[in-house]
Amino acid sequence: EFLEKIAELEKEFSVSTEQLKAITKHFISELDKGLSKQGGNIPMIPTWVVDYPTGKESGDYLAIDLGGTNLRVVLVKLGGDRTFDTTQSKYKLPSALRTTKNPDELFGFIADSLKSFVDEQFPEGVSAALPLGFTFSFPASQTKINQGILQRWTKGFDIPNVEGHDVVELLQKQLKTRNIPIEVVALVNDTTGTLVASLYTDGETKMGVIFGTGVNGAYYEQVSDISKLEGKLADDIPSSFPMAINCEYGSFDNENAVLPRTKYDLQIDAESPRPNQQAYEKMSSGYYLGEVIRLVLVDYHKQGLIFKDQDVTKLNTPYIMDTSFPARVEEDPFENLENTDELLQKELGINATVQERKLIRRLCELVGLRAARLGVCAISAICQKRGYEAGHIAADGSVFKLYPGFQENAAEALRDIYGWTPAKKEDYPITIIAAEDGSGVGAAVIAALTQKRLAAGK
Ligand code: BG6
Ligand code: GLC
Repeated sequence: EFLEKIAELEKEFSVSTEQLKAITKHFISELDKGLSKQGGNIPMIPTWVVDYPTGKESGDYLAIDLGGTNLRVVLVKLGGDRTFDTTQSKYKLPSALRTTKNPDELFGFIADSLKSFVDEQFPEGVSAALPLGFTFSFPASQTKINQGILQRWTKGFDIPNVEGHDVVELLQKQLKTRNIPIEVVALVNDTTGTLVASLYTDGETKMGVIFGTGVNGAYYEQVSDISKLEGKLADDIPSSFPMAINCEYGSFDNENAVLPRTKYDLQIDAESPRPNQQAYEKMSSGYYLGEVIRLVLVDYHKQGLIFKDQDVTKLNTPYIMDTSFPARVEEDPFENLENTDELLQKELGINATVQERKLIRRLCELVGLRAARLGVCAISAICQKRGYEAGHIAADGSVFKLYPGFQENAAEALRDIYGWTPAKKEDYPITIIAAEDGSGVGAAVIAALTQKRLAAGK
């Protein structure tokens, strides 16, 4: 019976190479649609980050990073010769702030964190306002670089009165009430930051991507090819210039055309604060991996297949299993999965049989593998669309950095799509490599690029 169930799971959660190719193909047309005037499901947000960094950008910048696992404040010193130094503090964002009813609490918390960092780093005070790059990892529409109107919350954030508002203003207001001498000069998505930070040190970078709490990517497009910018383009930006696009491709396939959704994926979507949105992200990002697994286990328990006579109160709690849960299960080195046993006891109060543990292990492997395989379709789509046959894809995020086997699975999936033959992933023409600190260095380089452009009167 267990073997049968495992075979069923394998069927449900596997994504064949043929499917990956079909998904890539549809992805390309959706990216194009997003750039067009009529628009589509993928926002393809122009970032107003024009031109590539030269590596010569220099100066001291503050950066703040909201939207991933941690809230980070970073002081970046750009050396001007492709080098940099960073000093940073991490603050755990209280989870209640993700869904607070009062946006001032969130932006107040950011301002307080900035204040304690600035007080620590500049005990003598500062003579002029410090320039800040604000990495805000949510879809925000921009008509200029130091502004961002939140389109909608993603990744389980749900705070009223922010959607439709400029988050730079909301932060600046909290800074002002606290008399903190900081000026937000650039609003940056984490993917754009990752792209620019990696380009600062590595000219082969083609995209910045995040495999973390959410999934998303950024790349450069010629201004003349961004048809939806028509007429809205400031005269000072030549149409031959490249501009970074924050794709927000987590929303790929909201129309439900190609992704192989299981009933568990449909349930996650239906029960999320924003149903029918972020379809691709809900199948491949860290925020949801543990939840898919939990829903399968709850279903199997209800069918009487697992955890008989166990107290499943904890298992029934939505989002109780974060990504570290499947990560630890996959890392369990023991034949009988003793670590998994301990984890289930500790986190869920469940005593699992060896067979049950093996089923859970296989389930985690399948869900992790599916995330990697689906996750690279965006990369192959953008590379094919732009005609990139070789180069580096700079990746960041907890799933990329910490999830066992993810990097190998992602590289193999790309190889499957392209049919490459080299034996080692390092030799594939397009390689996914660990990024530089995008939210710190990227935001700083973008702030420097912006200041340079403004100083030159452009
Ligand atoms: C961090 C970056 O390393 O990765 C953030 O500094 C980014 O800018 C984050 O948002 C994404 O990963 P996660 O897993 O924290 O969502
Ligand atoms: C979500 C956000 C996006 C961000 C990504 C990774 O998809 O909408 O802005 O880049 O998560 O953090």
